[in-house]
Amino acid sequence: MIEFLREEHVDEKIIQGIEDYRRQFPAPSGTPGRKPRYIYYGREVWEQAAQALLCGENLLLAGSKATGKNVLAENLAALFGRPSYNVSFHINMDASYMIGTDTFQNGEVVFRPGPVYDCAKLGGFCILDEINMARNEALAVLHSVLDFRRVINVPGYETIPVHRAARFIATMNYGYAGTRELNEALSSRFMVIHMPEMTRENLEKLLTREFPDMKKEYVQQFSGLFTDIQKKCQSGELTAKVLDLRGLLDAIRLIQNGLAPYLALDMGITNKTFDSYEQSLVKDIITSRISKKSGRDAIFC
Ligand SMILES: Nc1ncnc2c1ncn2[C@@H]1O[C@H](COP(=O)(O)OP(=O)(O)OP(=O)(O)O)[C@@H](O)[C@H]1O
Ligand SMILES: [Mg+2]
Repeated sequence: MIEFLREEHVDEKIIQGIEDYRRQFPAPSGTPGRKPRYIYYGREVWEQAAQALLCGENLLLAGSKATGKNVLAENLAALFGRPSYNVSFHINMDASYMIGTDTFQNGEVVFRPGPVYDCAKLGGFCILDEINMARNEALAVLHSVLDFRRVINVPGYETIPVHRAARFIATMNYGYAGTRELNEALSSRFMVIHMPEMTRENLEKLLTREFPDMKKEYVQQFSGLFTDIQKKCQSGELTAKVLDLRGLLDAIRLIQNGLAPYLALDMGITNKTFDSYEQSLVKDIITSRISKKSGRDAIFC
């Protein structure tokens, strides 16, 4: 991953900082690092995120769907050489799930640690996924973990210090129906990155890496297709429902497996909206980029 950052021209001082951090905190034994499935593209975001983590800050990655929040969070854990712990938030999340709770084992009461506790103890990277889905009151137990105190208060037990290598990376969706706000006391404990939209250049890199046998002209057409949709969303002609990078990648995978491109793109992109006028606009964009005649063999070598 360090090599990748160099190729992306990430500031060398930051890269050296990460190397120093890794020397200072060697990966704990018994926690093998997983190789991330995707690599995050976006130099500025890499610099912001890595610098904040080097300075001991926690990160909040805010953005709309499929902007790479989880990809970046997992990449950061791998880059810093730390085990990652994932906590998926939901409305019923409570302190006992995050921190731990008493439980019976062989007739005795023992403490069963939760992921935030384990992460804090081992110096992992804790991914607080969709943090705004939890009730704000439930998140209050994280306050002392996330601010200068860096301690976990476990009721009935001693206070546990958070390991110096531990970091917390939260993700949140916003901007469409059903998304919630985060309270200010919590957001003030994070450095916040608003995840930018994928650029055409980065999408070309992503497609080339993900689909090495895709012909170059189609790498350009699929990237162009996505940026066409982006532009129409910015101008208000389309809604963000059809701006779905995850859907585009899934559709290309189906095409690679032999499904006709327009059928795959309908499932991955067009049908994400239920408005027939919007669907027809998206279909027009698709046919202007990918001919109905081109099948798998035209697109892949
Ligand atoms: N900048 C990026 N670099 C690399 N991949 C990206 C980027 N942005 C989005 N993606 C791709 O989009 C897909 C979704 O990424 P991810 O799951 O991290 O999104 P997310 O922001 O967590 O979305 P959601 O809010 O829906 O959970 C992945 O396939 C990922 O590779
Ligand atoms: Mg996500």
